[in-house]
Amino acid sequence: MTHVPAIHDRIGRDAGAPGGGRGARGRSLALVGGCEAPAAASAVVAIVGAGPGDPNLLTLRAVQLLQAADVVVYDRLVGPGILAYAGPAAERIYVGKARGDDPRLQDGINELLVRLARQGKRVVRLKGGDPLVFGRGGEERAHLERAGVTVEVVPGITAATGCGASAGIPLTLRGVAQAVTLVTGHGEDGEPDLDWAALARLGHTLVVYMGLAKAEVIAGKLIGHGLHPGTPSAIVENGTLPSERVLTGRLDELGRMVRAHRVTGPALIVIGEVVRQAHEVLADERPAMALAV
Ligand SMILES: C[S@@+](CC[C@H](N)C(=O)[O-])C[C@H]1O[C@@H](n2cnc3c(N)ncnc32)[C@H](O)[C@@H]1O
Repeated sequence: MTHVPAIHDRIGRDAGAPGGGRGARGRSLALVGGCEAPAAASAVVAIVGAGPGDPNLLTLRAVQLLQAADVVVYDRLVGPGILAYAGPAAERIYVGKARGDDPRLQDGINELLVRLARQGKRVVRLKGGDPLVFGRGGEERAHLERAGVTVEVVPGITAATGCGASAGIPLTLRGVAQAVTLVTGHGEDGEPDLDWAALARLGHTLVVYMGLAKAEVIAGKLIGHGLHPGTPSAIVENGTLPSERVLTGRLDELGRMVRAHRVTGPALIVIGEVVRQAHEVLADERPAMALAV
């Protein structure tokens, strides 16, 4: 097994999380009656989607697995309200990564999961949103399966659908948007590497994950490929959480909106006519309904 020194800097036990600590395993399964803990005899890891932030958006299966877990390995976007569903005796291991971190951190996480599973522990790998949407869940599953570990993947509500519901933005709408595309604003080398001509077509909603830092570039590329500069656009920050903010404006204002409102994320950018339906608009933003297109 390869040793990755860098991982030790980032992986730590989160003793301060609600329900954390090493005391008696006190939380009963009463919240979700009748669920059974998975057998610990074989090496098993559940890769579980935690949803966009609001703990109420966890799936029933996610809660069952959290309550039965011996160890929860969790990401940066998984909040304390979600971790509280794990039993008090469950070990919590933080492996959050930030933009620009050493890519070898992922190797360390993969190896950690294999090691824990081989110890016979009931391992929950908890990831924000859906593990298979910009979540590297596919890579982790492949690594585990190559190592002979059985994997269960539990889907979660991805940020696009969570933020859409919360901000009042339908991602598709009859007669308005017949398709939706989820893209990342963060390419392999940091720059978004996308088929701009395809994304600029009309009748379509574009949802950009991890696009804050490149909001101006993304808007410029889309406008350069024919999308109207006045196309309604929204930024949803901390979607589904009490701190949620929804900013709406024109496509050519996206960069200014990020700077003016000091949006630091996590945030999604939604571009398309569906944004006219957003139900929350900051007072100093022009209402999306008034945008000329
Ligand atoms: C590494 S991706 C993980 C996506 C996740 N697997 C999902 O399905 O939502 C992280 C990005 O998701 C978006 N995101 C996640 N949670 C969010 C939230 N509560 N509000 C807005 N955007 C969110 C942001 O663009 C953030 O930079």
